[in-house]
Amino acid sequence: MASIDASIAPARPARRTDWLGRSATFCYLAIAAGQLLFIAFILLYYYPPTLTGNFADWNRKPIITGFVAGDTAGNLFFAVHVLMAAVITFGGLVQLVPAIRSRWPAAHRWNGRLYLVSALTLALGGLWMTWGRGTWLNYVGAIGITLDALLIVLFAGLAWRAARSHRFADHRRWAIRLFAVASAVWFMRVGYMAWGLATGGAGIGKAMDGPFDLFLAFANSLLPLAVAELYLRAGARGTPLARQATAALLGASSLVILAGSAGAWMVMWGPYI
Ligand code: HEM
Repeated sequence: MASIDASIAPARPARRTDWLGRSATFCYLAIAAGQLLFIAFILLYYYPPTLTGNFADWNRKPIITGFVAGDTAGNLFFAVHVLMAAVITFGGLVQLVPAIRSRWPAAHRWNGRLYLVSALTLALGGLWMTWGRGTWLNYVGAIGITLDALLIVLFAGLAWRAARSHRFADHRRWAIRLFAVASAVWFMRVGYMAWGLATGGAGIGKAMDGPFDLFLAFANSLLPLAVAELYLRAGARGTPLARQATAALLGASSLVILAGSAGAWMVMWGPYI
């Protein structure tokens, strides 16, 4: 696991005994555990009906607008979206492992291209489903996910451009920011569950229009992005105190992620497969 440590390691080489490096590894492992559960749900719930054309089965669980008879374009966009959702989530986890990057650079490059294509497909397709198909519950939620889509497109472009021009330190920074915002829809589910476990659902509205819903509509991308930014800054030029504080923040975030992911599996995903 020391290799994962180095994957998201600060520009200043992280020693194995360094708390920032250790907690970054722990945070990666917590994210990986939660995202693997999300991937398992997508593969078991969405893949079989999508690949066999049995689209009506998408609606076995509560969603806003899944299969609609006669809406060929909308159904196809939804199908591509859920198929790519597993690809991007798995691809992101693989891309952050440095052993793969150093031992199989070609695999890193091809997986990187696939990640960028899936990021653009999900962001642009998701924008069409939101505004073209009209899949939204309230304006704040729709604007929050739109912001996420725009950040995904922006960071994907910047990560790609930095890699093309061999500015690898910049590439790593933009790629980590891209990973944070491309994981926003997963963070949202985990965030709801962690908050629900801690407070019993305070501030969650019936139409997802309570104060917590409105907060999470933007926090799902901006909060992980802020934590990633603190981590990048602490790693590059943080004082020992800043590094320790960031390590503590990553450690606490990891515990929240583990609790929220377990909750998401028990409530949102597991019961439907
Ligand atoms: C980039 C990573 C993304 C992943 C992994 C992802 C994943 C998913 C999944 C698994 C679903 C199925 C609904 C469920 O079972 O909960 C879904 C639905 C949807 N996604 Fe995404 N998504 C991503 C990005 C986006 C973006 C950026 C937007 C909007 C701009 C978006 C808009 C939608 C919409 C409108 C639906 C239909 C929701 C419903 O009918 O309830 N997605 N997405």
